[in-house]
Amino acid sequence: MVQFDPFADFRMDGQIAIVTGGAQNIGEAIARTFAGAGAGVMIADLNGDQAVATAATIAEQTGRAVKGIGCDVTVEADIQRCVDETVAVFGGISTLVNNVGWGRAVDDPLAVSAEEMIDSYRLNTISALRMTAACRPFLLQAQNASITNSGSMVGTLPAFDFLPYSAAKAAMNHMMLGLAHYFAGQVRINTVLIGTVLTAGYADAGLDAAAQEKLAHPNNLTGRAGSPQDVADAFLWLASRAGAWVSGQTIQVHGGGTRVRLKPQ
Ligand SMILES: NC(=O)c1ccc[n+]([C@@H]2O[C@H](COP(=O)([O-])OP(=O)(O)OC[C@H]3O[C@@H](n4cnc5c(N)ncnc54)[C@H](O)[C@@H]3O)[C@@H](O)[C@H]2O)c1
Repeated sequence: MVQFDPFADFRMDGQIAIVTGGAQNIGEAIARTFAGAGAGVMIADLNGDQAVATAATIAEQTGRAVKGIGCDVTVEADIQRCVDETVAVFGGISTLVNNVGWGRAVDDPLAVSAEEMIDSYRLNTISALRMTAACRPFLLQAQNASITNSGSMVGTLPAFDFLPYSAAKAAMNHMMLGLAHYFAGQVRINTVLIGTVLTAGYADAGLDAAAQEKLAHPNNLTGRAGSPQDVADAFLWLASRAGAWVSGQTIQVHGGGTRVRLKPQ
């Protein structure tokens, strides 16, 4: 008889998660992975119809309670409604995933207006602060409470072609590290620095087909772009009890970073 299950610590039974921006791509994979591991999940997304539809699909795939709600994470009233609804449906919140984020390519970083910088901070940084504030009373009552954020590789690397986005993601790393110290012993907080996961969003961000083709074959140690599941697996580790000794960290999940060639090939 098998007596040791190394996957037991990765189970999410009894956990209640909110995944922002969970209607598609990376957030959807996180929601599916958490539900598959046993969690109840609320998908909070600007696109309410897609959030509800994705939640229904994941509920069918996993046999777990998964709900969707329309929520703009830059709007305080929406955040509160999402939290209230999650608590009403599931009875609490143990796990917050701040996954919403977006940025556009800029030709001239010095042509970026103050308003565009502020909008980027509002979406990529401040939303995570306000979600955390609204969830605080419930996280403090929960077992294995955690917050995991979708950061970006460009939040630690110079990326003048994505200046508003990269600066806002860098700010989020620092802000959430501060909050990890504030919540010491109560709520674990980590941020995943995500590399290229090709989605339709890349075209929307202003990258042409040639640039997308280059991103699909990156010069990294694994030689490929990532899938939403590559990223979701890291979130499962960090949010489950398997990550119980990890807090205040930025974890790099981006194919291994740049491959440096020291000799001709
Ligand atoms: N895809 C990548 O290569 C990549 C790389 C690094 C970091 N990331 C980060 O990972 C996260 C997810 O990326 P993705 O590619 O899956 O994104 P995506 O654009 O495919 O999905 C984001 C979701 O967020 C929702 N959303 C947008 N604005 C919102 C708002 N104000 N309130 C609520 N929901 C909102 C959208 O409707 C969408 O469903 C983002 O934070 C992104 O910055 C992605």
